Amino acid sequence: METVLSGIRSTGNLHLGNYFGAVRNFVKMQHEYNCYFFIADLHSLTTHPKPENLHDNIRKVLSEYIACGIDPEVATIYIQSDVPEISQLYLLLNMNAYIGELERTTTFKEKIRKQPENVNAGLLTYPVLMCADIIIHNANKVPVGKDQEQNLEMARKFAKRFNHIYNVDYFTLPEPFNFGSDLVKVPGLDGTGKMGKSEGNGIYLIDEPSVIRKKVMRAVTDAGPEQPNSTKPEPVQNLFYLLELMSEPDTVAHFEQAYNDCSIRYGDLKKQLAEDIIQFTTPYRERILEIYNDSEYLSKVVKNGANRARESASKTLREVREIIGYKSF
Ligand code: TRP
Repeated sequence: METVLSGIRSTGNLHLGNYFGAVRNFVKMQHEYNCYFFIADLHSLTTHPKPENLHDNIRKVLSEYIACGIDPEVATIYIQSDVPEISQLYLLLNMNAYIGELERTTTFKEKIRKQPENVNAGLLTYPVLMCADIIIHNANKVPVGKDQEQNLEMARKFAKRFNHIYNVDYFTLPEPFNFGSDLVKVPGLDGTGKMGKSEGNGIYLIDEPSVIRKKVMRAVTDAGPEQPNSTKPEPVQNLFYLLELMSEPDTVAHFEQAYNDCSIRYGDLKKQLAEDIIQFTTPYRERILEIYNDSEYLSKVVKNGANRARESASKTLREVREIIGYKSF
């Protein structure tokens, strides 16, 4: 069975865009592949989170993914920093990663722009750590978004280089996993583009109903159609996309009809949409909170995940040390 691995950022809660993007696919994939999902809490240090937030961020993200259906009994879900073998492999890989190629990485250049006051070495070697994450389990496939494609390309390069330098065929070269048509893009409520954390236009699974109502009512629209059957401008089209995702077909048909005969009142559409979103997110919110507050359960999940991940990671590290030439006395 092929191994799929994905790192999860430990900053930011899940919004509907994440849910219909990667998360729903992870839930499906766990039954079809040998899956490793981990929370990238070492990578998160590159932006210097406060000690008082670090643990809570990890706990939130972990609770959210489990609430969405990632089953710790099925997939191996763990915290990156619980697996010291990853850091050791990262150190070894750093010896064959070159400053020039790291400096040319797009994500690095972007970070320099975003945090010029904190251009640390961890940012520079971010792709090396990501490579260690992936190849420590000899993962075949890595689901990545557009922004992470180059980092995955670097991981392939480092894995290939290791094989070449030591004249072995040891590491599997990881391929991007393409969700293809399974990936549903969710638009934001600000008129254009998709829902995203940095765009600040997200509806989060953890949002209270009152928050969701407020966000939806504030969504951008226009003055309404002036001619029957006119094409919808993007902000309005986006609301209809959300409606299709969240509401019954009858509801969608009702508002389509109203749009086409120019009787639509966006306020009514928004009210309905907000209630349908609330109906969808409420079970998730309740489950997230339940898991978040269950320290005993979370502790079990995390320990079990770390044990399983370390089993695979320590085998790799042992073999890598041997290949490099370390011997026991
Ligand atoms: N860099 C990824 C992101 O920002 C997270 C990540 C860390 C990752 N290690 C990984 C993703 C390994 C895939 C594989 O989203």
